[in-house]
Amino acid sequence: MLVAQVSDLHVGRPGERLGGRVDTADCLRRCVVRLNAMDPPADLVVLTGDLVNTGSPEEYRHLRSLLESLATRWVLIPGNHDDRSALRAAFPDHEYLGQDPDFVQFVIEDFPVRLVFLDTLDPGRDGGFLDDARLEWLEARLAQAPHAPTMLFMHHPPFATGLEAMDRMGCVGAQRLARILRQNPQVERLCCGHIHRPVLTRWAGTTACVAPSCAHQITLALRPGASPLTYLLEPPAFLLHLWRPDVGLVTHTCLVDSFPGPYSF
Ligand SMILES: [Fe+2]
Ligand SMILES: [Fe+2]
Repeated sequence: MLVAQVSDLHVGRPGERLGGRVDTADCLRRCVVRLNAMDPPADLVVLTGDLVNTGSPEEYRHLRSLLESLATRWVLIPGNHDDRSALRAAFPDHEYLGQDPDFVQFVIEDFPVRLVFLDTLDPGRDGGFLDDARLEWLEARLAQAPHAPTMLFMHHPPFATGLEAMDRMGCVGAQRLARILRQNPQVERLCCGHIHRPVLTRWAGTTACVAPSCAHQITLALRPGASPLTYLLEPPAFLLHLWRPDVGLVTHTCLVDSFPGPYSF
């Protein structure tokens, strides 16, 4: 099983550049070309939130048009820049978006690894939110298959990253989520977005990672009290999660654009 995790697309209206600078639509276009050229191709592409920039229907129509040429099956979850109603309205054929009536959260059971998707969106706030209803839903889903290797996808990381400006946004409910994960060691990997930078840590008994953005990256500001949040135009990238019985679950970081090579040694 090969799952590509593409995060923080921040697609705007056609022709719009984020901050007047970042052509997020073009970044996604290049990412789709890269994904379509992969050999072997991914079995699934997971888009882990901040799909568009303001949650407007026009942005979702634009997102849909950009994803039309993606040859691999793909699924979406929302981030803090998304709007659940507009998202569902733009993708009525994505039936899993309605698996839960209140939140965009669902389970995919078609692969050797069970894929669970959790909604952390709290409308109007930048930070993540896991209330009792969402955590009870998660607990019940995990209880259905306590021995099946599982990956959990959610937009907001529930752990600190050392990037203060991002960590301040946080994720309410993280401690209860940690308790649930400690009781469910079948969760092999927790996969998040939101930080716009690849991050890896051990958290609540599992391995947790953050995918880089397939558009702009957040500045690597690790000094405590570092200046306000800024971004830079480091290369767009995504994660590739490979599961094979003889390998286990390993995660690779892939840059969207091409570079010279390969060369023989
Ligand atoms: Fe984002
Ligand atoms: Fe975000």
